[in-house]
Amino acid sequence: MEKETCTFSYCQKPEIVEVDTDFLIIGGGMAGAGAAYEAARWATPKGIKVTLVDKAAMDRSGAVAMGLSAINTYIGENKVEDYVRYVRADLMGIIREDLVFDLGRHVDDSVHLFEEWGLPIWKKGADGWSRDGFQARDEGIPSLKAGGPPCRSGKWQIMINGESYKVIVAEAGKAALEYNRKATGQAQNLFERVFIIRLVKDAKDPKRMAGAIGFSVRENKAYLFKAKAMLIASGGAVNVFRPRSTKEGMGRAWYPVWNSGSGFYLGMTAGAEMTMMENRFVPARFKDGYGPVGAWFLFFKAKATNALGEDYCAKDTPEFKDAVSKYGKWAENLGTAIRNHLMMQTMKQGKGPVLMNTHTAMQELAKQMDAKRLKHLEAEAWEDFLDMCIGQAGLWAAYNVEPDKVPSEIMPTEPYLLGSHAGCAGFWVSGPGDIPGTPAEWAWGYNRMGTVPGIFFAGDVVGASGHKFSSGSHAEGRIAAKAAIAFILDNAGYTPTVGEDINALAAEMYLPFEVYEKYKTYSTDPKVNPYYIKPDMYQARLQKIADEYFGGIGTWYMTSKTMIEEGLAKLQVLKEDANKLAASNLHELLRCWENYHRALSLEAHARHILFREESRYPGYYYRGDFDFVDDNNWRAFVNSVYDPATDTFTLKKVPYVQIIPD
Ligand code: FAD
Ligand code: ADX
Repeated sequence: MEKETCTFSYCQKPEIVEVDTDFLIIGGGMAGAGAAYEAARWATPKGIKVTLVDKAAMDRSGAVAMGLSAINTYIGENKVEDYVRYVRADLMGIIREDLVFDLGRHVDDSVHLFEEWGLPIWKKGADGWSRDGFQARDEGIPSLKAGGPPCRSGKWQIMINGESYKVIVAEAGKAALEYNRKATGQAQNLFERVFIIRLVKDAKDPKRMAGAIGFSVRENKAYLFKAKAMLIASGGAVNVFRPRSTKEGMGRAWYPVWNSGSGFYLGMTAGAEMTMMENRFVPARFKDGYGPVGAWFLFFKAKATNALGEDYCAKDTPEFKDAVSKYGKWAENLGTAIRNHLMMQTMKQGKGPVLMNTHTAMQELAKQMDAKRLKHLEAEAWEDFLDMCIGQAGLWAAYNVEPDKVPSEIMPTEPYLLGSHAGCAGFWVSGPGDIPGTPAEWAWGYNRMGTVPGIFFAGDVVGASGHKFSSGSHAEGRIAAKAAIAFILDNAGYTPTVGEDINALAAEMYLPFEVYEKYKTYSTDPKVNPYYIKPDMYQARLQKIADEYFGGIGTWYMTSKTMIEEGLAKLQVLKEDANKLAASNLHELLRCWENYHRALSLEAHARHILFREESRYPGYYYRGDFDFVDDNNWRAFVNSVYDPATDTFTLKKVPYVQIIPD
C-alpha cells in the first residue's frame, strides 16, 4: 500500500512552539501531580526548570477525575512488610518486592499532605462510630498525622469525602509548578490540552531521548519540548478491548477515557524495557454502570452471591477446590483475579447472574444503629456512587432499582492494562537499592528510572508493583521526581539535542489531517472512504481483534497460542492501515493518535501472554492450552523490549526474587 506523507499541501500547517525545559512531566494525574509537587521542591533552589504537560485539564483528568470515596493504600498502624505480603498474594506471587516495600514506606506521607491540603478524611470517634471528614473536623478529631484514627473500610483502605480529591491534589501540583516557573523565569510551564505523541531521540547521544512532541487538542499548534529528564506518568490503557457497553452506553468504561496507552507507547518506542505486560485488570463491577464494589464489600459488609443465594467464593465449594487444584496456593488467597474466576464459574454452571446484596447489607446495618446514624450511612453509601460513578445512579433510576430493597448484578468488565490498581503491567524500573535482599541488578542508580537513561516512570505505567492506587501513585510520582532531579544534577554537562527537523515532526503529527483533506471528496459519507479509515472504525477493528483473539469478554477471557498468533497477524494488517488514519478535526486527530498508542500497547500485551506458557491470572485471562499455574517454571517476570526500527519485540524470562519472607 502506498505510504501517505504530509507536505501540508492539503491541510493547514500548525504553529510550531518549542519549549526548553529541564524536567518534563508527561501526564498530570495522581503520579504527575505528585511529581510536580516534589520536583519543584528540589529543582527550584538549583534553578532547574520543571514543566508539566497533560492532554486534558489537570483539575479533572485521569482516573481520579470524578472523585473517589476511599484511599485504597494507607499503611497507618500496619506493617510495610504485611503490605508487601498482601500485594504479592493478590498478584499471584510475582511482584518487585523492592518497589512495593519502597512505596509502602512512603505512601502515608502523601495521604497526610492530602489532608493538609483540605481533603476531608473520615475518622473513628471515641465511641467507636465513624465520622465523615466534616464531622471529624467539627468535633476536633486530630488529623491522621497528629494521630487521629482513620475510619478504615478494609485493612489498607480508608474512607474520604472525595468528590474533589483530584482538584485538591492538582491545586498543590499547580502551585508547585507556579513557584518553579517564577523562580526559574519560564514564560509557561503548565501545558494543558496538549497530547504527547512520542519522545524524540538525542542527536548526539544514541542512548538518550532529548524531548517529546505533541499537539494542542484545542488550537493549531504543534509542540516540541526539550528536556534533560522526563517522567512518563500518562496512565494505562482503556478501550483496547471491546467494552461491554454498546450503542446507548457506548464510551462507558471503568478506566478513564484519557488513558489510551500513551504511557506504554512513549516508553516502548523509546526502547524502555517492560515487565508483566501479560497482566491486565478485570474489575468486577456493578453491571453496566461500572459502579465500584470495594466499599460495598469491605465497608458495608455486603455479600455477593449467585442467583441461588449461594456464596460462590466459599472454600467448601467444588468450584473453589477445582481452582486450587489448577492454580495452586495462589487461588487459596482468594485475590482479585480468583474472585472473578469463581464468579464466572458459577455463571457458567447456570447459577448467574451474580448479585451484590446491597439490600441485606443495609438491613443488617439498620439493626446496629439508630435512625440518624443509619440515614447518614445511607447517604454515604449512595455518595460512594455519586462520587465515583454517577452513571451507576442513573442506571439504577432507569431500571427502577432501589438498592436498599433489591440486589444489583455484578459482573467482570472488559480488560484494562495498568499497573497501579489490582494489576501490574508496565515498565521495568530501578528500585531504591537499599532494601536488604534486593538483587544488585534491580537498582541501576536512580529510583523509578527505566532502562533508558533519564526516562522515569510512575503510577499506572510502572510494572510488577500493583496496589498503589491513588495515594501510592502520588507517592511514586514524588519518589521518581526526586530521583530525576538528582539525575539532572549528576549529568549537568548534558544538553538535549534534537536532530529531527521540527517541520517534519509537525508533518508526522498532522498526517491524519492531510489524508482526510486529500481524499474527503472521494465519497459522499465522510465516514466511509476507500482511501482512509476514521479513528472510530479503526478502534472498532482493534477492539474486535483484542476481544476475539486475545481473551476479552467475548471468549470469557480465554485465549491460546494459536488464537494469539492469528490475532497478531490481523493486528499487523491493522497497524499497516494506521498510515491511512484520517482526522477531520483536532478531536479526531487526538483519536487517531490514541489508537496508534493503543495498538502497540495491545501488541505488547498479546506477545507477553503468548510467551508465558501458563494461566498466571485466572479470572483476568486464561491460556486454554496451559490452563494452570506453573510455579516451577513460571514464577518469574516476563520482560520485553520493543525495537521501533524493526517493529519487533524481544522477550525474556527474569528470575523472581522473594525479599520479604512469607
Ligand atoms: P492518572 O491519574 O489516570 O493520570 C494519567 C494522566 O495522564 C491523566 O491526567 C491524562 O490526561 C494524562 N495523559 C494520558 N495520555 C497523555 C498523553 N498522551 N499526553 C499528555 N497527557 C496524557 N484509588 C484509590 O486510592 N481509591 C479509589 O477508590 C480508587 N478508585 C478508582 C476508581 C476508578 C474508576 C479508577 C479507574 C481508578 C481508581 N483508583 C482508586 C486508582 C487510582 O485512580 C489510580 O491508581 C491513579 O489515578 C493512577 O495514577 P496515574 O497518575 O498513573 O494515572
Ligand atoms: S475502586 O478503585 O473502584 O475503589 P474497588 O471498589 O474494586 O476499586 O476496590 C477498592 C478496594 O477494595 C481495593 O483495595 C480492592 O482490592 C479492595 N476489594 C474490593 N473487593 C474486595 C473483596 N471482595 N475482598 C477484599 N478486598 C476487596
